Amino acid sequence: MSAAQPQGSARPSAEVAAEQAAGSTAASPDVPSRGGLTRRTVLRRGALGLGGLVAVAAAGTGVRGALNGAFQVGSGAPYDLWSGWSDVDDLGRYAVAAGVLAANPHNTQPWTFALTGGTSGTSGAGGQVVVDVHEDPARTMPVNDATGREHLAGIGCAVTNMVVAAAARGAGATVAYLPDGPQGPAARVTLGAGAPHEDDVALARVLADRHTTRGAFSAEPVGAPTLRRLAEQAERDGVRIQWVVETDERTAMGDLVVDATVAVVADEAMSQEAFSWFRSTRAQLDAHRDGLTLDCQGLDPVTAFAAAVLPASSRRQGDEFWVKRTRDVHTATAAAYAVLVVDDVAVPAQQLAGGVVLQRLLLACTAAGLGAQPMNQVTEYLDAVALGTAGDARTAADLGRRWEQIVPDGTRRGLLLVRIGHPTRTGARSPRRPLAHVLV
Ligand SMILES: Cc1cc2nc3c(=O)[nH]c(=O)nc-3n(C[C@H](O)[C@H](O)[C@H](O)COP(=O)(O)O)c2cc1C
Repeated sequence: MSAAQPQGSARPSAEVAAEQAAGSTAASPDVPSRGGLTRRTVLRRGALGLGGLVAVAAAGTGVRGALNGAFQVGSGAPYDLWSGWSDVDDLGRYAVAAGVLAANPHNTQPWTFALTGGTSGTSGAGGQVVVDVHEDPARTMPVNDATGREHLAGIGCAVTNMVVAAAARGAGATVAYLPDGPQGPAARVTLGAGAPHEDDVALARVLADRHTTRGAFSAEPVGAPTLRRLAEQAERDGVRIQWVVETDERTAMGDLVVDATVAVVADEAMSQEAFSWFRSTRAQLDAHRDGLTLDCQGLDPVTAFAAAVLPASSRRQGDEFWVKRTRDVHTATAAAYAVLVVDDVAVPAQQLAGGVVLQRLLLACTAAGLGAQPMNQVTEYLDAVALGTAGDARTAADLGRRWEQIVPDGTRRGLLLVRIGHPTRTGARSPRRPLAHVLV
């Protein structure tokens, strides 16, 4: 395994075939519906009045709504694991189910899991179950995640969920990063090793309630004692959290993230690769059970429903929507940012550890009633330019200089960024592939 991901298409051919079978298109034109409403206009306005609702109804809500899953948001087979994970008997498979529910970049679900210690994974020496977590090389984003830092961080996130889930069943766990060197598994989790940590039992209780929050946060600040407690629950393995809270610094970070988002969407290769992981229709979602969906964008229910029943937006319209949300919602309402700081962002074990800490932070936020959203446009752009996969060197120089003004030695040490705050609505479930697809 190398830190740099292979170049080429982000889409495994099997997935593309599945999409074709489902009859979906990569970039549907923004065809106006009857009444002149489109998904784009609805998303631009951000909310619908009564007239809009009538127009949506006139546009044939029933048929299109069923097609786009407007009546099935967060339910059906792609969401089964969210309710069924804790019923899995076998300790190994139960831990894997928890792992699959972890945050991960663009919902690529970049992992496979191998259980050893008995056919069902429950009869290993000393009652221990060993789960090797492997990278799935077909689930990378070589343009937007050029160094693979997010890919490995996603695996670290899964590791945390496995560890805390085991704790809820009274089992301790040990974790080794790259236990057999660069060619072996990314991580080895040994379940049933020692006693569980009390913090982990508490985090396991909110495991299935954690969802990325892309809606607005309220104006209520997050106090210093809460930030301290979150860091205590999350930090480990050499990963530290730098909080960005003061107004000036927070504004500077917000402006930087907005400018990085503008730069990302201006780059054709970055925009195209990101869009390839967006599931615009229910058929795409059912076929892939991965990727980003409209439901997870934190829209108010009326706008989300209207957007779901209207024709899908094009890639460019989606990019425009993302920039607008980043400017007007994500950064405008961030109560604080957490920068996950390591010694060297290029070291795979530190990328994995960063993911372990990220997921602990996300769970700790959920337990504290806070919302959280990773936002990594800045480092994605810097990595793309550094590795020559995309971007423009002058823009990267400006973004990098501003990043280093907020994060000391940030190019070398600033691994991941998260915004947090008090949510105004709960995040939605995102799809997951079933255990049969991830167990090897
Ligand atoms: C390493 C990493 C980087 C991520 N970067 C972003 C990001 O830049 N913007 C964003 O909105 N979400 C980001 N996410 C959140 C994922 O998109 C999200 O975890 C995934 O879609 C699954 O959804 P869920 O977290 O609600 O289960 C990131 C997650 C991880 C683990």
